[in-house]
Amino acid sequence: MPILEGKNLTRAFGGLIALKEVNLEVQPHEILGIIGPNGAGKTTCFNVLTGFYPPTSGDVFFDGRRSLPPPWKNGPSWEWSGPFSIRAFSRN
Ligand SMILES: Nc1ncnc2c1ncn2[C@@H]1O[C@H](COP(=O)(O)OP(=O)(O)OP(=O)(O)O)[C@@H](O)[C@H]1O
Ligand SMILES: [Mg+2]
Repeated sequence: MPILEGKNLTRAFGGLIALKEVNLEVQPHEILGIIGPNGAGKTTCFNVLTGFYPPTSGDVFFDGRRSLPPPWKNGPSWEWSGPFSIRAFSRN
């Protein structure tokens, strides 16, 4: 069973579709890289897989469980303890 799975991941920024129906599986202990030209959507793919950006459509599963996007907060930082531990800081 894959440890990480992206199913039909689409992410749009306004009219720009950065990811279109991306499917991927990462098996336990597998090391996978993503390659592509500038603007191909690599960083967006990571951001959607880690929950940093919610997908416009599609789902991410970690260890078989659907992972939900983090709750966005208006404060200077937020922390989300989901399948991945993420801390983000921004200057407001
Ligand atoms: N937050 C955002 N708002 C609007 N458009 C965005 C945003 N993030 C990415 N994009 C657009 O989505 C597309 C994919 O960008 P992304 O940064 O994911 O590509 P990349 O493969 O990581 O590129 P690079 O190799 O330059 O790092 C680009 O057209 C980019 O301009
Ligand atoms: Mg990038």
